[in-house]
Amino acid sequence: MRVFRSVKDLGPLDVALKEAMEIKADRYKYQELGRNKTALLIFFNNSLRTRLSTQKAAMNLGMNVIVLDVNQGAWKLETERGVVMDGDKSEHLLEAIPVMASYCDVIGVRSFARFESREDDYNEKILEQFIQYSGKPVFFMESATVHPLQSFADLITIEEYKERQHPKVVLTWAPHPKALPQAVPNSFAEWMNAADVDFVVTHPEGYELDPQFVGDARVEYDQMKAFEGADFIYAKNWSCPGVTRPEDYGKVLSKDMSWTVSDRQMAVTNNAHFMHCLPVRRNMIVTDDVIESPRSLVIPEAANREISATVVLKRMLEALK
Ligand code: CP
Repeated sequence: MRVFRSVKDLGPLDVALKEAMEIKADRYKYQELGRNKTALLIFFNNSLRTRLSTQKAAMNLGMNVIVLDVNQGAWKLETERGVVMDGDKSEHLLEAIPVMASYCDVIGVRSFARFESREDDYNEKILEQFIQYSGKPVFFMESATVHPLQSFADLITIEEYKERQHPKVVLTWAPHPKALPQAVPNSFAEWMNAADVDFVVTHPEGYELDPQFVGDARVEYDQMKAFEGADFIYAKNWSCPGVTRPEDYGKVLSKDMSWTVSDRQMAVTNNAHFMHCLPVRRNMIVTDDVIESPRSLVIPEAANREISATVVLKRMLEALK
């Protein structure tokens, strides 16, 4: 695997899930694979889970790990070609990428949506430059539009906790005070469309996800109706994807607190498990009672980030041989 950004990069999901379970049973099984190989993890944005779980995954495989926080201690990077660099940015990404790549064997990059241009964000302007100019395998640690390591961990979690075949999985929008990217819901929709689940998306009007991710998934604008009989509730906020009105891209169109996931909505589910990628704002996205309930999976879901990252790095190392 040279690039990991999509569910398609993993191949058959049943094989990937089997591999994940094998690694979960013995996460050090492939410790020799990464000997004398180096993973470089580059963060343009903050992280707790991705940073720690991906470092742990690399260590599980016997790799060396270098972590760079671009905005803390590195030169400020210019990302646009043709700019006269007379401002505060001292180095261009076009030099920085091959230099960074010369110190490692695989590169993980986190670079969120900037909300300056929908076209730039949805064309993955930053990550594409890493793919083009690094000459190394690149995995997405949450980009402008996708968060595949999270969705793979979510899928592993659903597989572990499902109590029936073809469970009903509902992705629900929930309110948040600030504009958040669409990376998590985009990837979650893409991965659920590929999985053996009954997938439903619910959100207020105007929050329609990009068709390249949401595909033919059922969209239900009535949240209570969407929750009926659900086995898994996956809550997430996202800002306007600008599908129907491009001028609204990245805007907060609603802070409707009736969408906060509470016991009221959970009561109509099939005793659903609650999921969220974290970090989560309590009593905006979800009430204390729901996130603390025995049906909440937020902690095992986060723990599975180590497993999804180990599988992805293992696949990349195998491709280097
Ligand atoms: N879910 C997730 O990616 O968490 P971090 O932003 O803390 O890495």
